[in-house]
Parts: sequence; structure tokens; C-alpha cells
Amino acid sequence: MVLLPVQIIVICSALCALVTSSPLPQDESFAIIPYNYGYEVQDPETNNFQNKAEIKTSEGDVYGSYSVLMPDGYIYTTTYNVTGDSGYVSRLVKTLAQQEVLPEPRTAA
Ligand SMILES: *[C@@H]1O[C@H](CO)[C@@H](O)[C@H](O)[C@H]1NC(C)=O
Repeated sequence: MVLLPVQIIVICSALCALVTSSPLPQDESFAIIPYNYGYEVQDPETNNFQNKAEIKTSEGDVYGSYSVLMPDGYIYTTTYNVTGDSGYVSRLVKTLAQQEVLPEPRTAA
């Protein structure tokens, strides 16, 4: 039997349909795995101060925050969350780093 070009196309498209419609693993569930972690860097020698912490709840919501001391003397803190179908929501706050405590002025004796 000799296949005509039209028949080849039909066979090919039938095969292609089979391949592309092959089901994705539907029953593969993406289980929520709660976690939390954090870290902190405090290195006065290099003026490297930063931290981060994040938690994922058993509902799948994520809450986190990270801070870094920048050369301008401000600590930049980003807090963020992903709850429900909110997407990534974040907020940046800038606070002046605490200055070194100056020695008490001496009173005249
Ligand atoms: C998520 O973060 C935004 C920005 O900081 C805040 O306004 C909102 O209340 C947070 N949502 C929850 C559920 O904590």
C-alpha cells in the first residue's frame, strides 16, 4: 500500500494530536511543605549588617523580611508576603541606623 501525501499528513496530525494530548500527571499533588529559616550577619569590621527570615505556613502563605545596612547609614528593610492568590506584596522601610552611643559629657570636678 502506497500512502498518498494527504494520508501521510492525516497520520502525522493524528500522531501529533496523540503526543500533544498526552495527559500531564493530573494526580500529582503539590503538597505544601511548611518551613522557616533565617540568617543574620553582624560584622563590624566590614560594616556588614544584614538579616533575612522567611516562613511558609501550612496553608501555603509566605511571610518574610530582610534588612541590610547601606553605606548611607540607613537600614533598608523589606517585608513581604504571598497570601492566597495575592501574589508577591512587599513594602520597603528606611530607618536611620542607631548611632554609636557617645560617652557622657564629664562634669567639672
Ligand atoms: C502583606 O504585606 C503588605 C505590605 O507590607 C501589608 O500591607 C499586608 O497587610 C500584608 N498582608 C498580610 C496578610 O500580612
